[in-house]
Amino acid sequence: MKSSNVVWQPVAVTKAQREQRNGYRAATLWFTGFSGSGKSTLSYAVEERLFAMGCNTYVFDGDNIRHGLCRDLGFSDTDRTENIRRIGEVAKLTNQAGVIALTAFISPFRKDRDLVRASMPEGDFIEIFVQCSLEECERRDVKGLYKKARAGEITAFTGISSPYEPPLAPELVVDTESSSYADGVNRIIDFLCQRGILPPSARA
Ligand code: ADX
Repeated sequence: MKSSNVVWQPVAVTKAQREQRNGYRAATLWFTGFSGSGKSTLSYAVEERLFAMGCNTYVFDGDNIRHGLCRDLGFSDTDRTENIRRIGEVAKLTNQAGVIALTAFISPFRKDRDLVRASMPEGDFIEIFVQCSLEECERRDVKGLYKKARAGEITAFTGISSPYEPPLAPELVVDTESSSYADGVNRIIDFLCQRGILPPSARA
């Protein structure tokens, strides 16, 4: 922390009060996986289900956030670490506001994700590994970036010239290669009910 003489101020309305009024808990669903693995698609699909149930939600998407909040960051290891730190802080604030945060970032480094987990209240960080082989992501190549990375036009591209460290103990693994998105969404909603984040009535 760079600033001194800064004292944490108590809040008037707590997260617990907001959660009690809302009837669900404000957690962070942290999607991680290769570019093209389906993190955004899955997180928006989960958000639609939650929204339909009356939950307040917000999706933070890697590509979008890099247009604003993180526009000063590139793809070096240190910039990715800072990217994830910022998103972790924003997700935490979002939760404090009683809103369920869904984040769709490659977040390739285990230690960065673990730091976000450790910074949040126990049980608020739900790591969802969006599993899809590099070969399949490259075959999909939705944005044409794998082709560019192979041609050497993009440096430090995750999976090709920059590492991806899969989670060792994620709360959930959703395979988008061999299962449908609908199936993934149902599994996530069921998990949220099991964990008491959503009421049992929300069960798929
Ligand atoms: S992260 O590594 O810091 O978590 P983030 O999720 O914000 O990455 O951004 C990833 C998106 O940026 C990819 O889906 C892709 O569209 C784009 N991108 C551009 N350059 C790169 C790169 N070198 N490595 C990975 N993704 C890149």
